[in-house]
Amino acid sequence: KHRIIIDCDPGHDDMAAILLAAWHEAITIEAITTVCGNASVDNTTNNALRIVDAFGLDVPVYRGAELPLLNRYEFPAEFHGPSGLDSSRADLAQTSRKAEAMHAVQAIIELVDANPGEISVVVVGPMTNLALAFGLRPDLAGKIKQIVFMGGSATEGNITPAAEFNIWADAHAARMVFRSGVKLVMFGLNLTHQTLLRRQDIAAVRAAHPGENAVADIMDFYCGTYYRFAGADKPGAPLHDPCAIAYLIDPSLFEVRQLPGEVIVGDDESYGQTLIDIRPQDLAHDTRNKNVGVAMTADAERFATLVTQALVW
Ligand code: BDR
Ligand code: CA
Repeated sequence: KHRIIIDCDPGHDDMAAILLAAWHEAITIEAITTVCGNASVDNTTNNALRIVDAFGLDVPVYRGAELPLLNRYEFPAEFHGPSGLDSSRADLAQTSRKAEAMHAVQAIIELVDANPGEISVVVVGPMTNLALAFGLRPDLAGKIKQIVFMGGSATEGNITPAAEFNIWADAHAARMVFRSGVKLVMFGLNLTHQTLLRRQDIAAVRAAHPGENAVADIMDFYCGTYYRFAGADKPGAPLHDPCAIAYLIDPSLFEVRQLPGEVIVGDDESYGQTLIDIRPQDLAHDTRNKNVGVAMTADAERFATLVTQALVW
């Protein structure tokens, strides 16, 4: 069984990742930590609490970083709506539940300290919380089992031509994580543009629970904003964040290559890019530091089946 911290900014696909992790018996969610990303940390924390409440999850939620380490940006409301978790119709109920008193960064430190080598950190938002944890406690890197993350790309970006949103939103934090020495498994856009939530998947979720169905409505909103952006002819919207959870459940869903990776933080058009060295090498003389396991291909059909099952709550 994988014991995980989900470090997230819910977020429609973050919600799908949380539901997938909560639903599958191969995973135990030890904590949900939040970060500013798709929306303010007030909103992403509130969304995480609403998710935990609505689906009866017995998981503590810790509120994390308010701001990226260095650069500031406007929250990109066009994909997830101003709340970060807008819906086409029915919303998740509001909740009176509160986040734990402890800060997310401290919670990560204490959980990892208490369980050295046991905890996988699944990051599906900007990497600010982990960077702050490493800043406080560099030795923590030696105690984390692995970091499985959605972010970056071995090909195109989304927020800029070069950069994917989670990495771009805090590129300096991401660089710290890339250089941390922890085992890294990356689910970037090169992969998540293969793993789509299609119209028929949402229809299946809806058919399983006719009547009010907030999950289907929330995923409808997400697909709707994506189709408006990318074209309604698209077969589905990329389901980014659940890939990191699906990998823990069933690694055979993905082909992962061990490659050198770096985060670009220069002040130009490539800011926030993950530069993955995919050049073929003479293996006998390959001395490169292959610090990132990069997911390259997915069995998209089996992935969609897995996620759809988890969305039928
Ligand atoms: C990532 O950014 C967010 O909008 C999604 O939740 C995902 O984590 C995709 O670039
Ligand atoms: Ca996310």
